[in-house]
Amino acid sequence: MLGTCLFVLALNIGAHALFSAPKPEKQGYAIAAAEPEAGKGGAAELQAAPEPIEALLQKASAERGATVAKQCGACHSFEKNGPNKVGPDLYGVVGRKRAAHEGFNYSAAMKAKGGEWTFDELNKFLQGPQKYIPGTAMSFAGLARDSQRADVIEYLRTLADNPQPKPAVAAQ
Ligand code: HEC
Repeated sequence: MLGTCLFVLALNIGAHALFSAPKPEKQGYAIAAAEPEAGKGGAAELQAAPEPIEALLQKASAERGATVAKQCGACHSFEKNGPNKVGPDLYGVVGRKRAAHEGFNYSAAMKAKGGEWTFDELNKFLQGPQKYIPGTAMSFAGLARDSQRADVIEYLRTLADNPQPKPAVAAQ
């Protein structure tokens, strides 16, 4: 009896994984790397350089970004003077020097990278943290979808005493 139950449970979980993976209803909570979009290249798209963030940010929404950022909340706080958790507090991270949040013990890889968190840097990092900064302590698969990254970056932009203006889009 118990065995049957377990089997049915396993079937259920299997079926759920099979049928829910390609298009989750609530996109904000899915791990991006696990949801290749049909017809858009999936893993191949992950390898390509991301679309320029300037254009993406024009359509971005901080509200949607806040929802996507729930995935980050297990490791990051977002409020001013918030605590460092598994990762550093992210309030004011746009424009901040890399690996510069007080009291956080960054990986050697993150410290060695240098520079600061421009919109473009955030876009590249969040697409594939391990790929962009091999050896980073941020064990997060990344946000494969351009629009999701833009929404999160727009949300991060608003988390500052004086939010930076959105970058201008180069004329085409
Ligand atoms: C599993 C935990 C975890 C998750 C989930 C996670 N992060 Fe991180 N994050 C870290 C850790 C740990 C670091 C420090 C990395 C290092 O030192 O190499 C970090 C570093 C960062 C940094 C660099 C901060 C600085 O001060 O230099 C940014 C930006 C960042 N994360 C953004 C995000 C965003 C946005 C998300 C959600 C889309 C996210 N992270 C999800 C653990 C996580």
